[in-house]
Amino acid sequence: MAEASFVKVAQLDELSPGEMMVVELGNDRILLANVEGNVHAIDDICSHAYASLSEGDLNGQEVECPLHGAAFDLVSGQPVTPPATDGIKVYELRIEGQDILLGPAKS
Ligand code: FES
Repeated sequence: MAEASFVKVAQLDELSPGEMMVVELGNDRILLANVEGNVHAIDDICSHAYASLSEGDLNGQEVECPLHGAAFDLVSGQPVTPPATDGIKVYELRIEGQDILLGPAKS
């Protein structure tokens, strides 16, 4: 089976623990978040209405939408507080040296 392709999207020194950033891949905006040294990748666009989650707050393993306050789990992509009810995509990620490599959506 062919291995899924991973693309370098950022460097670790651009994303300190507790920080978020957005990368664009094709037409997708993807949020990268560094939680205590673990980097997560998730869709940047809230599933409730169109808002950029990267403009919200990072609280532990959750990101809070700036518009109506729904929080999403960075690992599962599922909303943990309303008003959002639908999950958002989570992406495979690899760290190689200083490089952050983004892979396909997990589901
Ligand atoms: S747009 Fe994110 S909670 Fe409404």
